[in-house]
Amino acid sequence: MNAVSTADSRLSDLDRPQAPGDGRGAIAEAVTLGALLRCCVREVAGPRGLVWPAEPYVLLRVAGTLLRARVHGGIALRFDGPAEWLSDGAWRPLTSEMLVALIERELPGGNDEFAGQVARSREAIGALLDAREGGAAPGDPWLASEQALVAGHPFHPSPKAREGDGWLRYAPEAHAEFPLRLLGVRADLVAERGDTRALDLSGSAPAGYVPLPAHPWQLGLLAADLREPLADGRLVDLGETPRPVAPTSSVRTVFDPGTGMCLKFSLDVRITNCVRKNAWYELAGAVELTERLGPVFARLAARFPGTRWLPEPGYRSAGLGVRLLEGLGVILRPGPWTVCGPGVTPVLAGALAAPRGTADGGPCGTADPLVWWRCYVERVAPPVLDAYFTHGVVLEPHLQNVLLGIDHHDLPVEAIFRDMEGTKLVRDRHDLSGLPPAVAGALAYDADRGWNRVVYCLMVNHLAEIAASVAEHAGRAVLPELWSICRDVLTTYAAGHGTPPLLAELLAGAPLPAKANLGVRWARDADRSAGYVPIANPLA
Ligand SMILES: Nc1ncnc2c1ncn2[C@@H]1O[C@H](COP(=O)(O)OP(=O)(O)O)[C@@H](O)[C@H]1O
Ligand SMILES: [Mg+2]
Repeated sequence: MNAVSTADSRLSDLDRPQAPGDGRGAIAEAVTLGALLRCCVREVAGPRGLVWPAEPYVLLRVAGTLLRARVHGGIALRFDGPAEWLSDGAWRPLTSEMLVALIERELPGGNDEFAGQVARSREAIGALLDAREGGAAPGDPWLASEQALVAGHPFHPSPKAREGDGWLRYAPEAHAEFPLRLLGVRADLVAERGDTRALDLSGSAPAGYVPLPAHPWQLGLLAADLREPLADGRLVDLGETPRPVAPTSSVRTVFDPGTGMCLKFSLDVRITNCVRKNAWYELAGAVELTERLGPVFARLAARFPGTRWLPEPGYRSAGLGVRLLEGLGVILRPGPWTVCGPGVTPVLAGALAAPRGTADGGPCGTADPLVWWRCYVERVAPPVLDAYFTHGVVLEPHLQNVLLGIDHHDLPVEAIFRDMEGTKLVRDRHDLSGLPPAVAGALAYDADRGWNRVVYCLMVNHLAEIAASVAEHAGRAVLPELWSICRDVLTTYAAGHGTPPLLAELLAGAPLPAKANLGVRWARDADRSAGYVPIANPLA
């Protein structure tokens, strides 16, 4: 594979010094077109029967136009070289704008925001590439991995679209650092639950007030709602915190190196499919789940060595109506270093999956790719499956919710699961009757919906991407071997746990559910109503 001329692998240029403006617009366009084309294969042409593998190409038809691109990486669809469209019998370069126009012709209903979202995402990628030229990555390798997702979700039509101005100042991919703003909440108005002591370390508040750190971006968005409570003393503005924090991959969660804690803020900004607001029932739900999952993760860790998780022990906000309760709500979460063993470095799975050229170490570092992959699957897959089958817990193990603990042989020896918002309890297997209905409703999932989500996150979003990156790194056609190792690990788990029928189906090659991100954006639906499209199962 030629690392420079290929579309996706041009991402390998991301971390290399370049002359100002040199090719960064072209990289942003290649990344944008790649993500959009992947969505088209999966969600637009695929379900219409209009995708044809023609190695080394994939061909597809969108709105009557024949498209093609060289492809590797199996279901991860990593493209080599420019995508093309057939015009008067000749292949010509395809652009993201042309593909948007084809999608607009093909999909029913119309959506006058879609083209703008794709364009904003492309512009954001360009701006992030420019910004990375100017700043150095953090010295903390975990934090560097959180800030490495320049291309973002590989199967989203507008992975990096950020609304409004000033977003670059807070962007993890730009290696931003910024102080928080500290508010004081009049003590009788504090809304909180769980262990919130770490929040008191963010600064001191005057007598009768409790400190509440706030994301400066969010304070700007809430300015109109904050005017009255700030004027009448229900809240006080205590200025900026003395030390800067660093944003992590989700943008709205920041790491405070002073306390070693992460703070998950509300951010009323659409990032991929959701406006990133902590709903009141999610604030309470995070702490509720944390209490319930303690014993579950203790058992998972005992059975599957290396299993770790990041609990969310408390939240704090201001009881000033739903808008401010949600808008100012902050959830506490320990940083991953606090749960890793000695000599183990946490790294975001998404950073290990990022497409790269062959020049650098790749995801496996110095380790043998097949050995590395077996360790990886053994760390990640069995605890996710057992959480579901034995404990009725639906984890959301997508690439941004899982970290790997890497030891000094470069091997993944721990898997760290995080993000209570996406973690659910299978209805009927947990007694949620004591909870407010809204909290219980947001925590519970039907068993089959839960299984779909587990399989999508684990197999499609996560392992397929890591496998593609390992295969790129290995530099030879190891993908079938990788899936055979994965099948081995899953079969061993199944055999030891009574071969649950759903898992037997998965191992037998049942199609995998792939989340329809383009569809949900096109329909302007809430993320939770996103559909799934069936795709080929590489375990078959
Ligand atoms: N492969 C991926 N799968 C899912 N999310 C991804 C991926 N790559 C990047 N992301 C980003 O990570 C975040 C994941 O969303 P989610 O876990 O629901 O949110 P949060 O961490 O803010 O609670 C989004 O900002 C999304 O754009
Ligand atoms: Mg997350």
